[in-house]
Amino acid sequence: MATPRTYDRSPWLLEPDISYLNHGSFGACPDPVMEAQRVWRERMEAEPVRFLARELERHLDEARMRVATFLNADAEGIAFVPNATTGVSTVLASLRFQPGDELLASDHEYNATLNAMRAAAERDGATLRIVRIPFPIHDPSEAVEAYVHAVTPRTRFALVSHVTSPTALVLPVAAIVRELDRRGVDTLVDGAHAPGMVEVDLGLLNAAYWTGNGHKWLCGPKGSGVLHVRADLRDRIRPLVISHGANDDRTDRARFRILFDWLGTADPTPYLALPAAIRYTGGIHDDGWNGLMTANAALARRARDILCSALGTTPPSPDSMLGSMASVPLPGIAPTRAAAQRLQAELFDEDRIEVPIIPFPVPAAADGGAPAQLLVRVSAQVYNRPDEYVALAASLARRVRASGPRSLLGRLRRG
Ligand SMILES: Cc1ncc(COP(=O)(O)O)c(C=O)c1O
Repeated sequence: MATPRTYDRSPWLLEPDISYLNHGSFGACPDPVMEAQRVWRERMEAEPVRFLARELERHLDEARMRVATFLNADAEGIAFVPNATTGVSTVLASLRFQPGDELLASDHEYNATLNAMRAAAERDGATLRIVRIPFPIHDPSEAVEAYVHAVTPRTRFALVSHVTSPTALVLPVAAIVRELDRRGVDTLVDGAHAPGMVEVDLGLLNAAYWTGNGHKWLCGPKGSGVLHVRADLRDRIRPLVISHGANDDRTDRARFRILFDWLGTADPTPYLALPAAIRYTGGIHDDGWNGLMTANAALARRARDILCSALGTTPPSPDSMLGSMASVPLPGIAPTRAAAQRLQAELFDEDRIEVPIIPFPVPAAADGGAPAQLLVRVSAQVYNRPDEYVALAASLARRVRASGPRSLLGRLRRG
């Protein structure tokens, strides 16, 4: 595998005329990783029965070991899942709460996972309490305090994102998990964005449950997610699909593996190619993963500063809470979902910029209400260049000016 340099887009299949500033949503898989996945696929299709029925467990075990080392996790607690959405739903579908129990999640969560929390609460007659984390935020401790203050004697379970989807904040998950654990609350950490963006140490974190994606910042193939369950809780968690494992009485493998490793015929190659993604993407920078994560975070900070100065705003969070994404409030535009969609479409259609405009809070956190603000969230991956954010900032500043009250007055005066 040849090693690309920073700003080198050639290993990615990204269209050359599009400024791709949304690595965060679905990642982007470079060709050498796709090539590793192609090799796995060809091995599978050369003899599908041998591969899937006789060899797959061994291949999954090897991939799991590599992923466990990367996450400093206990490989016995790792199950591959297609994505973090499935990881969250798997945990919630396995647990049962009592009527009157309280579940916590913040207003910075991802919309789909908040929906899953609400569905679990409704199923069991429990209550979902939304923890309000300020945004703008001045210090990570504000997030810890928000969770701690929401705990009551009835709180049983909490969801917390390591890196928040709408606001791109790196939350102090270790402190949150520790404080909740001291109060008897199990935490599910949604690490969808974490692997490859920030250091992940599941051994140190010691959360009850953790899920994350390989297809975002590790640049793995789409559908390469991971669920980790702490040893003391492992026999409680079942896959969403009931398969052969349910009545398999083998004793040569842990029950957790038997249950999760075969969920019906599917393509396992995204999981099998994860070691190649860890090796390849981590090899892009001379200083490996640490170098890459530090460089991406520096670029995200620079992007945020470029945007804030063009929009005349101040950074909404301290630098310590930024990873390789940054969200900046858009002043002067009515915070409606329609306006967000319109602006995002204009940026793509007219300026060829792929970037999300996010209404905050997301619908599941706004609870039927209107969003309070619109955010532009930029990603910084190794293939992005600073001048892309300069172009975005100029385009946004122009559009914000054009939609402002003065321009409306001008248009009215001009008749
Ligand atoms: C915090 C968070 N959780 C979960 C997800 C869902 O990821 P996936 O679509 O891979 O399940 C995302 C996606 O952006 C996210 O930002």
